[in-house]
This record gives sequence, structure tokens and C-alpha cells, in this order.
Amino acid sequence: MLQTQHNPGLAAQMSPRHFLDIDTYDSATLRFILNCAHSLKKAFKSGTGSKPKLAEGAVLAMLFEKSSTRTRVSFDVAMRQLGGETIVLNHNDMQLGRGETISDTAQVLSRYVDAIMMRSTSHEKLIELAKFATVPVINGLSDKSHPCQILADIMTLEEKKGLLEPLTVTWVGDSNNVANSWIHAAVRFGFTLRLATPKLLQPAMSFVEWARAEGGKLSLHEDPAEAVAGADCVTTDVWVSMGQEAGSEQRIALLQPYQVNEALMAKAAPGAIFMHCLPAYRGMEVSAGVIDGPQSVVFDEAENRLHVQRAILAWCLGKV
Ligand code: CP
Ligand code: NVA
Repeated sequence: MLQTQHNPGLAAQMSPRHFLDIDTYDSATLRFILNCAHSLKKAFKSGTGSKPKLAEGAVLAMLFEKSSTRTRVSFDVAMRQLGGETIVLNHNDMQLGRGETISDTAQVLSRYVDAIMMRSTSHEKLIELAKFATVPVINGLSDKSHPCQILADIMTLEEKKGLLEPLTVTWVGDSNNVANSWIHAAVRFGFTLRLATPKLLQPAMSFVEWARAEGGKLSLHEDPAEAVAGADCVTTDVWVSMGQEAGSEQRIALLQPYQVNEALMAKAAPGAIFMHCLPAYRGMEVSAGVIDGPQSVVFDEAENRLHVQRAILAWCLGKV
């Protein structure tokens, strides 16, 4: 059964329930959203039983400054399945693309829709949107983080490997927006996270210091083999994130020794899984043999975006 009571009365408070970053919520709230995602997955995948219409009558605006397949489609489908509707807004088709301010956009959209999901080139814009919106704002990826992705990854990790706390996850490659959200999640869900990156591409110290101050089990490595040894999950992402294309040759050169291939995966624990948020570039950050091989769970991970999106929407709309 879907649990529908957590923080009773919170929805009635003035401030909307934004979903901007994993570190801004306590572990209990994140666990609650994740449990909702598991319950909704069961409800929507079973042929029988109730499929709660938790977004009945609600409209989600989806605002994109960058390309998207999974985030766009999973939010759209999740909203429809919950009884709501969506509007897709591309930055360049809006007055925003001609210089209208984020604050005016936020206030206008808040008069029309019940929630806004934004994929932004800059995290500051998302913060500004949330500051001026009177409806919930969801981070659908920024240059800083990708919290919806990582909740789906955590859901996948616990489906495949069970209890999170004893697990070790190793991130290999560029320390980007996705890696930053892994750092947040490791602290809030209590698992060990090792990050293997070239020295020049280490995560920003603000993330590392935050994790250490919160008691997170985090270690930084330059040697991918050392970081992967005995890990339960090995994960990576593109070497060149959206918006980083200019001058990416040096980044790609630095990352050559960080490809997740069969030799590297062989150092992980027996039964270790491979994750990647997708889109992936075979022959770059991951070999075809690994991403298309038996240890890869990338399509379960992509599917879980849909299940997590339902839970995030229901939570932001104050329906759970
Ligand atoms: N993983 C992810 O966010 O994919 P899209 O860029 O296709 O939305
Ligand atoms: N780090 C990647 C993630 C894409 C889903 C990017 O920002 O392009």
C-alpha cells in the first residue's frame, strides 16, 4: 500500500515543496520519496489494483535549456499516468530566450501551472526560479547536479543489491553534475562512495568537505583499479557533459585511462553491477562489452526514472 502520510500539514504551509538537490533533504524525507517510488512501481506494473491518480487535474510545465530524452519522456508519462498533464517549453521558444527574467517567468508560470520542472544550463537559474515560483520547482539536471537521476539510481541499486549501507559504489571518470548528486546520495543513504578521477578533474572541494563534515564514507582516488577493487557497483557518465564541448580534447585525453571496460569490471566484487545514467558513448567512457554485457543494469535504471518521477511529482504536489 502507498503510504500517504509523512509530515502531515506540510503541504498546507506557504513554501512549495521544491525538489532541487538531494543534500537539501534529510534522510527520512528521501527514504519516504523512494518508498513511494517502489510502491508506485508495484501499483503501476501490476495488472490489477489501484493506480493512484495523484496528479489529477494538475499541469506540469517542463522547461528545457538543454536536450533530453529520458527526463522529458519519463516526466511526461509519469504525469499522464497520475492523471495530470504537461506542457513542454523550449527555452528558445520562450521570451526567456529573448531576455525576459527568470523571476518574471517564475511568477507568470506559477499563475498557470501546478509545478515546473527545469533542465538548466546554470544551477543559479533554478534557484532563482524556485525563489520566485509559488509552485514546486524540480531540478531536471543543472550544471551542478542531477538529483532525479540519482534517486532512480539508488532505487535500482537497492533493487539489485538490497540494503544500501553496506554497499560500495565506485564512480569512474569525470566528476560532473551526476557525480555530485552521487556524493549527496552517499551521505544521505549511508553507503560508501569512491570516486576515481584524474587529479585535474576531481570533484569540487565544497562537495567533498560537505560529505566529510556530514560523516560521509567518501574517498578520492586517481587509480581506477584501486577504486573499483571489491566494489558492488561501478558507475560512470559521459566524458563531455552538455555545455562542456568547447575545448574538450584535453578532458578526453585525461580520461583515457578511466574507461570502464571488462578488465576494470573484473576487479569489482563478484556480481557487481554497472550503471550509467545514459546517454552513453561506447568506446569512450564505457566499452560495448560492459554496457551491453550481463553486469549492466542501465535499462532498469532508465525505467526507474519513470517510477521515481511519479513519486517526486506526488511529493512535490503534496499528495503523499
Ligand atoms: N539521464 C538523463 O537525464 O537522460 P536525458 O538527458 O535523456 O534526459
Ligand atoms: N553529465 C551529463 C548527464 C546527461 C544526462 C550531462 O550533463 O550532459
